[in-house]
Amino acid sequence: MIQTRKHCKIDTPFAKDVLSGLQSMPKRLSSKYFYDEKGDKLFQSIMEMPEYYLTDAEYDIFESYRQHILNLIGDQPFDLIELGAGDGYKTKVLLRHFLVQDADFKYLPIDISKNVLLELEQDLNENLPRLKVEGLPGDYFEMLEQLNNKSKIRKVILFIGANIGNLTRAEALHFLQKLHQNMSKGDLLLIGFDLKKDPEIILKAYNDSAGITAAFNLNLLHRMNRELNADFDVKAFKHWETYNPISGETKSYLVSKKKQNIHLLDETIHFEAWEAIDVELSQKYSLSEIENFAKNTGFQVIKHLFDQQYYFVDTIWQK
Ligand code: AVJ
Repeated sequence: MIQTRKHCKIDTPFAKDVLSGLQSMPKRLSSKYFYDEKGDKLFQSIMEMPEYYLTDAEYDIFESYRQHILNLIGDQPFDLIELGAGDGYKTKVLLRHFLVQDADFKYLPIDISKNVLLELEQDLNENLPRLKVEGLPGDYFEMLEQLNNKSKIRKVILFIGANIGNLTRAEALHFLQKLHQNMSKGDLLLIGFDLKKDPEIILKAYNDSAGITAAFNLNLLHRMNRELNADFDVKAFKHWETYNPISGETKSYLVSKKKQNIHLLDETIHFEAWEAIDVELSQKYSLSEIENFAKNTGFQVIKHLFDQQYYFVDTIWQK
């Protein structure tokens, strides 16, 4: 009996990116696709694991400097805009403090996912009922432009969690240029960068002993099986992590343990034995590299805020 695979026409951005990525040389997939429902949960577990120092470091920074940050913002009313809305675990340290200090502000998280925004809004309405919050579903830059046209109020933009690390240097520079264009003179940007440090500490954060990061990365194969009618044998791939202490590139790969063919979306993808898929970049920076970003994009550096171990920096820039 001849088995034919179910014919499928899936025409989503995910499907298109997966096909072009797996047909490229070397193969690559975008880390933005890690975050389906399962991926969100696994990322939550990553943030709770002892090796993933980034979350603790930034939490520590916000606890230590919440009043300092408020002093820098000053007395006038402001919009606190966050690019990307997670679970708000770290942002709540600032929100709570600003409320206690009776600051006159509104919190505007921007995220492409309406679902993520709804969950955050519900949580905030419950736990910080005095907070004025309005989720903005959409593209960061489109939403910033809309805000610019709507009100002249002072903007304080948060881009935390070292999310900028998923961009290459060139992409990060371009991103910061566009951000600068979408801000008004006097507006502030608070942005989190993960710093270069002992390579062993970095590697352990992305190659934990419990295998949570491995499961997080391998979930991308499961996701393609679920959503793109793919037939990845997930056990035939392994998670591999590298850190280059010169470039600061921290990279995750999924490596095929054997020669194999995978089917998805009516296509066949061939893997050589030990061929890898490039799945994530988590770029680490030195302080001078970060200051050069500010200089090259026209921002003025106002203040660097470090955790006690100097693992991470939240830097405050002004247009
Ligand atoms: C959410 C992009 C900041 O790169 O550190 C964590 C994602 N990947 N462990 C990071 C991630 C593997 C994380 N960012």
